[in-house]
Amino acid sequence: MNRVLVTGGAGFLGSHLCDRLVGRGEDVLCVDNFFTGSKRNVAHLLEHPYFELMRHDVTFPLYVEVDRIFNLACPASPIHYQFDPVQTTKTSVHGAINMLGLAKRVKARILQASTSEVYGDPEVHPQPEGYWGRVNPVGIRSCYDEGKRCAETLFFDYWRQHKLQIKVVRIFNTYGPRMHPDDGRVVSNFICQAITGKDLTIYGDGSQTRSFCYVDDLVDGMMRMMDSRADLTGPVNLGNPGEFTMIELAEKILSLVGGPSKLRFMPLPEDDPRQRRPDISLAGAELDWKPKVALEDGLKETVAYFRRVLAQ
Ligand SMILES: NC(=O)c1ccc[n+]([C@@H]2O[C@H](COP(=O)([O-])OP(=O)(O)OC[C@H]3O[C@@H](n4cnc5c(N)ncnc54)[C@H](O)[C@@H]3O)[C@@H](O)[C@H]2O)c1
Repeated sequence: MNRVLVTGGAGFLGSHLCDRLVGRGEDVLCVDNFFTGSKRNVAHLLEHPYFELMRHDVTFPLYVEVDRIFNLACPASPIHYQFDPVQTTKTSVHGAINMLGLAKRVKARILQASTSEVYGDPEVHPQPEGYWGRVNPVGIRSCYDEGKRCAETLFFDYWRQHKLQIKVVRIFNTYGPRMHPDDGRVVSNFICQAITGKDLTIYGDGSQTRSFCYVDDLVDGMMRMMDSRADLTGPVNLGNPGEFTMIELAEKILSLVGGPSKLRFMPLPEDDPRQRRPDISLAGAELDWKPKVALEDGLKETVAYFRRVLAQ
């Protein structure tokens, strides 16, 4: 049995990861400051003998005995990470320093939840891991993008300098139950708008594309990466290469939810990338991983979840 620390474990992805780790018999310590996460996401695990929840902010050092660390702590949606951008950068950078310091002290293997945002507004489609990205260092998204880039740098320097066993995954848009209803991300936005009979807000002309990975697939990829051979550091892209325009997504959701909603067009926000799609050949070759859940099936689960949440 591994003692596994999950930072950001009460968040959307972290709580699903905790479920899967506890389910396969690991001893899980979930650490979260509940900025965007919630005890509700892990309430069902609290009575489990091998699950522990600790309120802690990763910008402060942490002293615990663990064998593995999944570092997920960081608000992930623009609304939340732009709320206090200085704290966002601190969470990525100081959080990485603190967790890498811990990993070094206790000789733990450590995985960083990085992001496709490190590619910025890319000139290459789809994005392979070797692409260095096109990121605005002084824009309103920079606290997140550059914070995550710096965290990657720290991971690779700890690996080079201190021979730490690091794993870096670059996560592309992921959706599923336990997303925040009001985090401004497109899937949760559209679903909540459709369920409550409001019009679906499309920014720009709706021809920009995104790829959407269902949370179960993503968590499976993260766990495979953590379990991979010692010398595989990544970065490895994890995401679903199926590409959909915002209009296609809106129409799929409308057909699943029904109701009177229509599409409403709004101006495009600053630094919004036009297109984002992962090249996942490395994950296929190294982790024997590819997403299995079709968008339609994942959306059905997510709609069912939001119907329950919004009815409460
Ligand atoms: N969901 C996605 O599509 C996506 C895409 C790319 C990368 N990621 C990365 O995956 C990770 C998890 O994302 P998510 O979608 O679950 O977001 P989330 O906001 O639901 O989860 C983040 C968790 O981190 C916690 N947290 C934030 N700051 C903290 C701090 N200083 N100390 C301790 N805990 C803190 C929050 O309370 C929350 O529980 C993030 O690092 C994010 O950057 C997610």
